[in-house]
Amino acid sequence: MRVLGIESSCDESAIAVLDEDAGLLAHRLFSQSALHNAYGGVVPELASRDHVRKLLPLLKETLLESLSSPADIAGIAYTAGPGLAGALLTGAALARSIAYAWNVPAIAVHHLEGHLLAPMLEKPAPVFPFLALLVSGGHTMLVDVEGLGRYRVLGQSLDDAAGEAFDKTAKLLGLPYPGGAELSRLAERGRPGVVVLPRPMLDRAGFDFSFSGLKTAAQHALRAAPASDETRADLAAAFETAIVETLLVKTQRALAESARERLVVVGGVGANSRLRERLRAMTERQGVEVFFPRVEFCTDNAAMIAVAGLWRLKQGQREGLPIHARARWPLDTLSAPGAA
Ligand code: KG4
Ligand code: ZN
Repeated sequence: MRVLGIESSCDESAIAVLDEDAGLLAHRLFSQSALHNAYGGVVPELASRDHVRKLLPLLKETLLESLSSPADIAGIAYTAGPGLAGALLTGAALARSIAYAWNVPAIAVHHLEGHLLAPMLEKPAPVFPFLALLVSGGHTMLVDVEGLGRYRVLGQSLDDAAGEAFDKTAKLLGLPYPGGAELSRLAERGRPGVVVLPRPMLDRAGFDFSFSGLKTAAQHALRAAPASDETRADLAAAFETAIVETLLVKTQRALAESARERLVVVGGVGANSRLRERLRAMTERQGVEVFFPRVEFCTDNAAMIAVAGLWRLKQGQREGLPIHARARWPLDTLSAPGAA
């Protein structure tokens, strides 16, 4: 079985072809970050318009590279939410249209389910059940994953997502959008311990996070210190350490409470090398297996959407003609295909 995946929930236009036996045959992505850079964040209308421009050419290139013709494709998986409404609609309308034209099912995929299943593109892939730390630009959550569509959100950010906090602090430091990876590079030159920022919510029970206060603390620290490259690097290091330690401690607690033996780390912030290092060391000490998708599958991509679509299709999920696009869509309202 071969599935085409389409992702357009935010500022990445992406297409992938995934084969059940041969694995990922081709995947293409166009990032709009240069387009939104001048505005310091994603401009929804510009994002929709650019998806309209890019998705079809990407689709043609990806099909060609995967040596697939429409007759080889058994279903079209598309991100149906959560995300920017207009951006979602472009991918959803394309998916539904080609599904109709090629007479195959279209599968509406939850973007976060896609992130959760991204490690399935790697070898070895984790088996269910596992604990997931999902850290992206839009979401920060700890999820107990029992199986496909069986998700229990243990905790999540009450305000900014970790990636959002990275991006906002990067902006304060004069770095271009999205600044997570660049902030991390700047932090390499920072001196540990020169600036110390709080570790939000660690004194509270439960698995919720809050990162907006951390960004404000970074803003105050920046104002209080002399303006120099050294100050910026010290602050970047302090910020990264505070986020990484907060994520680490809460993840460790969730592993202990859930007694899961596997941890998967997904979403754009999962590309952060310091976070990976610290989680590797912690899981090794605890005898827990840890799985990270490669960096390009941490951030938004269509391969992860194709995985979720393929699995749902294999389990019998079929949909009628409506086009699904949900700007808000809680993860724990999902169910396994066929379940009541
Ligand atoms: O998963 P993703 O592509 O988008 C959402 O679904 O939200 O995540 C993007 C986020 C951005 O906030 C970006 O700054 C952050 O992931 N990010 C990083 C790194 N690479 C990407 N944050 C910290 N360190 C990185 N190396
Ligand atoms: Zn995402």
